[in-house]
Amino acid sequence: MIRGGRTTPRRVEENTLTTYRIAVIGGTGPQGKGLGYRFAKHGHEVILGSRAAEKAEPVAAEVTERLAGVSGAGTVTGLANADAVAAADVVLLAVPYDGHDELVATLPLAGKTVISCVNPLAFDKRGAHGRVVDGGEGSAAESAQRIAPEATVVGAFHNVSAVLLWGDEDYLDEDVLVVGDVVEAKQVAMELAASVTSRVGIDAGKLRLARQLEPFTAVLISINRKYKVHSGIRVSGLGHAATE
Ligand SMILES: NC(=O)c1ccc[n+]([C@@H]2O[C@H](COP(=O)([O-])OP(=O)(O)OC[C@H]3O[C@@H](n4cnc5c(N)ncnc54)[C@H](OP(=O)(O)O)[C@@H]3O)[C@@H](O)[C@H]2O)c1
Repeated sequence: MIRGGRTTPRRVEENTLTTYRIAVIGGTGPQGKGLGYRFAKHGHEVILGSRAAEKAEPVAAEVTERLAGVSGAGTVTGLANADAVAAADVVLLAVPYDGHDELVATLPLAGKTVISCVNPLAFDKRGAHGRVVDGGEGSAAESAQRIAPEATVVGAFHNVSAVLLWGDEDYLDEDVLVVGDVVEAKQVAMELAASVTSRVGIDAGKLRLARQLEPFTAVLISINRKYKVHSGIRVSGLGHAATE
């Protein structure tokens, strides 16, 4: 048990690896599919969720096919969103901000560690920009926590490109910043970050800092357009501290 009576995610210990059972809500989209692929490649059990199970199943089959021959890969299956949550211990929210609150309210999230990579962004002729959530006093991650108070919500993977996640590089040359109010839940996301970058994620502070991480993706999108790249964030000055 961790603070607030919330349960820690069930873990399957395999040798020295910690394996999580992860539901990816919005797992048919590029971000959810890409993160699901990376997690499964590193031995985690992934359940891709969709509003329609029959939409999730072929995407799960596509990821499974991509993992053929990868030693130690975990399974990837597809289910309806709520069924995926019920079968998992860790839940990744990878849906658009529009409709996010309504969807979260339908999910059985009590007791789960929930990772949100949702970015409330808008686009106009000047490009991408962050949307104001709750008059500037909120974020998508905080909304999820408010709607599901018995879950433990952290924010992570906001600034990681879906194109690179599904690409051929073994690891992405960037850092994953993790925000949250419960250390144990942040550690889950920090561990999972290693599946993507080969390094544990960086504890970037409290959940309310999702207000900065989420709209920062608009800056990366602007950089991507200017330089025709898929940019990410790399934090300097940490030395060995980040792995301790
Ligand atoms: N794409 C990126 O590079 C990237 C990078 C960092 C963060 N993110 C964030 O990750 C999230 C997902 O990004 P994405 O590009 O994968 O998004 P997406 O393709 O637009 O949507 C992902 C999935 O969400 C479900 N969905 C769509 N509208 C919904 C609604 N109104 N209610 C419930 N479910 C809905 C759909 O799945 P079903 O139809 O199967 O239910 C869809 O396949 C976003 O919040 C985005 O800001 C994206």
